[in-house]
Amino acid sequence: MNKMQPIGIFDSGVGGTSIWKEIHELLPYENTIYLSDSKNAPYGLKTQEEIIALSVKNTEKLLELDCKLIVVACNTATTNAIKVLRNSYKVPFIGIEPAIKPAALKSTNKAIGILATRGTLSSELFAQTSELYTKDIQVVEVEGNGLVELIEAGETNSPEMKDLLLYLLQPMLEARIDHLVLGCSHYPYLIPVLREILPNSVQIIDSGEAVAKQTKSILAAQDLLNETSANSSNLFYSNANPLVLASIISSEVHNYKVDTLDF
Ligand code: DGL
Repeated sequence: MNKMQPIGIFDSGVGGTSIWKEIHELLPYENTIYLSDSKNAPYGLKTQEEIIALSVKNTEKLLELDCKLIVVACNTATTNAIKVLRNSYKVPFIGIEPAIKPAALKSTNKAIGILATRGTLSSELFAQTSELYTKDIQVVEVEGNGLVELIEAGETNSPEMKDLLLYLLQPMLEARIDHLVLGCSHYPYLIPVLREILPNSVQIIDSGEAVAKQTKSILAAQDLLNETSANSSNLFYSNANPLVLASIISSEVHNYKVDTLDF
């Protein structure tokens, strides 16, 4: 392994770019390769076996592209497959999980909401974390069915998105939650609409910054941090139509390339 090798990042689609942004902000000199498995999105309603198979496929491609560390920028893939990935490959893996702990610790109403996919909410890893931190707290879990499909279609702010969110968030509003945990890497793109719907008193929490910090600390521990101040190379590959991916990325970074790739 050497420091110049890229960090590999994958998600079921464009959502993991929200994690890529945090990583790029904290580690601007790192070379990165992002895989958007939009062809197979959404992962959220697939079986654990299917999610593991897709995660293995994405990992194999990132290793073929010579990545030194892999960020599983998908809560659904992390909670269902990261154990298998860590047991199967030598490369370090960083995962993302819903930030239940900070929300539960900070909640004064003792009521929090978690918006995530069915795959995440039904996973063993999620159940274990939830059990640990939410004993004296009301947790309103809602499956975000339909959200990823709209985001993949570039509809983060459409009337249809707003109606769907109003419907999905109803039980959380009724329970008077004071923290909303975004348990899917696609959902940070919904923050502007969520802010229109939720009372100001509700804090929205996601895990992107924590993932970036963890990536930095694992790279540092393995002496793999790229500290050269040369421009980084940032490659974004989609295995479907890359237009939405390109529009998200073009507003964020100068030195990048978006392309299609078969994987
Ligand atoms: N971005 C995803 C997550 O964090 C996947 C959502 C999906 O494909 O259903 O869970």
